[in-house]
Amino acid sequence: MNELEAKIMIDELCNQIEKHNYNYYTLSNATISDLAFDKLLNQLIALEKQFPHLQNPNSPTLKVGGSITKDFTTVKHKYPMLSLGNTYNEEDLRDFDDRIKKSIGEDFEYVCELKFDGLAISLSYENGVLVRAVTRGDGTQGDDVTNNVKTIQSIPHQLKGNNYPASFEIRGEVFMHKKTFEKLNAEYRKELEDKEIYTETQILEKLYKNPRNFASGTLKMQDSSEVAKRPLDAFLYFLNAENNVSETHFESLKLAASWGFQVSDHYKLCKNIDAVIDFIKFYETNRHDLSYEIDGIVLKVNNYLQQEDLGFTAKNPRWAISYKYKAATAVTVLEKVTYQVGRTGAITPVANLKPVQLAGTTVKRASLYNADEIERLDLHENDTVFVEKGGEIIPKIVGVDLENRNAHAIKIVYQSICPECKTELVRKEGEVIHYCPNVNYCPPQIIGAIEHFVSRRAMNIDSLGGETVAAFYKLGLIKTYADLYDLKYEQILNLSVETNEEIDDNKSKKRSIKEKSAQNIIEGIQASKAIPFERVLFALGIRMIGETVAKKLAKHFQNIDNIIAASKEQIGEIYEIGDKIAEQLTQFFSDLENVKMIEMLKQHGLKLAIEEEEGLERSNKLEGKTFLVSGTFQMSRDDLKKMIEVNGGRNIAGVSKNLNYLIAGDKMGPEKLKKATDLNINIINEQDFLNMIK
Ligand code: IVH
Repeated sequence: MNELEAKIMIDELCNQIEKHNYNYYTLSNATISDLAFDKLLNQLIALEKQFPHLQNPNSPTLKVGGSITKDFTTVKHKYPMLSLGNTYNEEDLRDFDDRIKKSIGEDFEYVCELKFDGLAISLSYENGVLVRAVTRGDGTQGDDVTNNVKTIQSIPHQLKGNNYPASFEIRGEVFMHKKTFEKLNAEYRKELEDKEIYTETQILEKLYKNPRNFASGTLKMQDSSEVAKRPLDAFLYFLNAENNVSETHFESLKLAASWGFQVSDHYKLCKNIDAVIDFIKFYETNRHDLSYEIDGIVLKVNNYLQQEDLGFTAKNPRWAISYKYKAATAVTVLEKVTYQVGRTGAITPVANLKPVQLAGTTVKRASLYNADEIERLDLHENDTVFVEKGGEIIPKIVGVDLENRNAHAIKIVYQSICPECKTELVRKEGEVIHYCPNVNYCPPQIIGAIEHFVSRRAMNIDSLGGETVAAFYKLGLIKTYADLYDLKYEQILNLSVETNEEIDDNKSKKRSIKEKSAQNIIEGIQASKAIPFERVLFALGIRMIGETVAKKLAKHFQNIDNIIAASKEQIGEIYEIGDKIAEQLTQFFSDLENVKMIEMLKQHGLKLAIEEEEGLERSNKLEGKTFLVSGTFQMSRDDLKKMIEVNGGRNIAGVSKNLNYLIAGDKMGPEKLKKATDLNINIINEQDFLNMIK
């Protein structure tokens, strides 16, 4: 390679690495695998070594990577937050071990730990009190996210014991448990769907790709009360103090745990590299049983004096390295492609696979996303496919083994009719997703509409889950959500409901509706009649009518009859409503079936007009906030609760981490107060509350 070629190559590599760094650290959205990233970086390092005078003054090889987000205060790290060198195979690991032996001899031990797949955080404690939490940023300085970190239950605000240093930093990893991720991402999907403005493709793009992604997005939120709703967790693994608290890293971890830090139980003292390799192999198979994700193992020389002898390179400690696991892959056979219909009619093709073990679970299906993906993979019937589970929870097909393809294999052709109602599918211009247009009669779309109707933010009939709704529909008990109000206790008692859980191939578990839950369902349906008009309007599930639009329409038109009678122009004129929404509304009410359904809802006594509470003005000042009213006040407790509701807040029954504000009155129970204090909940008085809604 001549000098000019080297210069061009170096510039190109710098640009690529910077771009990936920005995507990873600032946008929390990795666009390259770790392995491929390291390859780019190593290529650049090699070229810079060969042509030192061509090194870019801002070369990414001079930094640890990352940048800082603009919305938080930037804080310089007292101790730079270096990253670790990576290895991917046993040979590299043994090379690392040889380098250490050459430098400090044979007499040393390693501590092996899990490499948690989250975001690095540095916590500063002064006299046992948490004073600051900073993200890694570019390694030299990061974002001050103290308020957000304070919402993490496992991070102590005040340390236990008395043998901690007066001032020190501790590093760890903030992460989200896999189950939490799945639950919150599903809720987030629902929220996006409810806005009725996103296409399925946009929703897939917006959803968090993996728990690390979600944890990172959460920690960078500006509103810490929002952060508190998305439970994060943290493991601490590295202590930094002026004077070491012990002679070894292993002892320091034990001490840190005794001060109240959450230190993972999965760490081990290893006498030599063979023991390290055993540790690696053990977690290679068992890592999938953990409730959180790890992407490798970290090994650290245990003794601090030996660590000092080994020292650092510009970017990494020489006494520690990580071993990264490869993304779990499996080879299996594509049995058939089926098509799922979503609540909005969006069709998702699904690959049905010969069951195969992958990352601790049996994989039978993989999402194929859309027609373009099938085309990209050039899928044929009975293809042998490679399935991968990266950070993502849902496995995906990453390639086809062409050598194993039968010469006469038939190409998979995207289905042209809806698998549920046989209506011809449509693909809108510029969209990659196919839709079933049969909104009113396609079963999954009807069930989806009813599920939306009963959902928490709509009619809040939480005794009725999706499985039960589907069972009622399939048994012919309900055809629309209006039919819910005709259901009788005797009709639903002992009904058998298919659950989403599978017992064996294609057979799902069943449960029957017992007395208590039958009663809860009927009571929940009756109670929903008190839900205010704006939420009933949202519950109708009209496309593009999300919560905010529903509120605006309710306020403007006061009742459903005015909305039905309004012309497209009259609706479109309302500030921030616009023609598209007006079109959807008039289209919905031009269907006589829908008008009939509204009539039924009216007869059942649902609120289809705004009800102004006397003397109480509505607002959404408390939207998304939860309250607990406890003790006695100047005004009656019921009035206080009503004020919370008319201002968009929610009353909840007890002190839990879901509570945002405890309104404390006279003579409130000391237990409640203590629990709220322990959970760091905002405790306010009557006047503070009145100021909030002023
Ligand atoms: S030790 C000076 N231990 O991996 C060394 N890091 O590229 C400090 N990580 O930035 C890091 N688990 O975010 C260490 N048990 C563990 C870890 C760990 C995850 C992350 C950390 C670090 C990155 C290294």
